[in-house]
Amino acid sequence: MENQIIQNQTVYAMPRIGDKAPVFKAVTTQGDINFPGDYSGSWVILFSHPADFTPVCTSEFMTFAAMEAQFNNANTKLVGLSVDGLYSHIAWLRTIKEKIEYKGMKNIEVNFPLIEDITMEIATKYGMMMPGESSTKAVRAVFVIDPQGIIRTIIYYPLSLGRNFDELYRVVLALQTADAFSVATPADWRPGDDVIIPTAGSCGIAKERMESQDENITCHDWFFCTKKIDKETVMSRITKKQF
Ligand code: BEZ
Repeated sequence: MENQIIQNQTVYAMPRIGDKAPVFKAVTTQGDINFPGDYSGSWVILFSHPADFTPVCTSEFMTFAAMEAQFNNANTKLVGLSVDGLYSHIAWLRTIKEKIEYKGMKNIEVNFPLIEDITMEIATKYGMMMPGESSTKAVRAVFVIDPQGIIRTIIYYPLSLGRNFDELYRVVLALQTADAFSVATPADWRPGDDVIIPTAGSCGIAKERMESQDENITCHDWFFCTKKIDKETVMSRITKKQF
């Protein structure tokens, strides 16, 4: 990823999957952070929202905060960002805690850091500003970053569309499962579903696998073999608590 200097201004290349997460220092509702250095050893979801005191964002923050323990249990920390200032963030989060009741959630305290980015520098670095959608607000971007600081998944949503946080949790579990068991995960995979064994490198290995007597392996064809891994095995490997 190469950034360019044009007319004395840095033009940031969009970060891509497999890139190192761009480095920054920031002021947050939980104090100053150095990113991603402070999160070394943990997975992180860095996500942006368009603006404080807006309804879709409020529903998202309440949902994410209510699920924080679940993410933490999967060694995943949450970090939010918008181009609002710190005092706006603090006032909005206080309003959420003191006044908003939504879908059975109330008294919701947001304990993960929310970055202030009034200069839009971090949002620009991470490709969160999309002028076709808004030139003054970040879109709803999601970066899933691994314990080595590598970007592993990027998802973008427009301003009007609230995110599905069960899906983000599924993404984290699927990435961790792929790493832990050297497998891939098929469409709609959830822990307990069969995983995909990477395609064999040679004909001989593929044939051997096709003819495998292992009752945990099913081959639909030479390039498409799945394997059972039960939910307990997955969850005990990638979370702190057994499910
Ligand atoms: C919202 O969070 O409700 C929102 C924010 C910016 C534009 C549109 C909706």
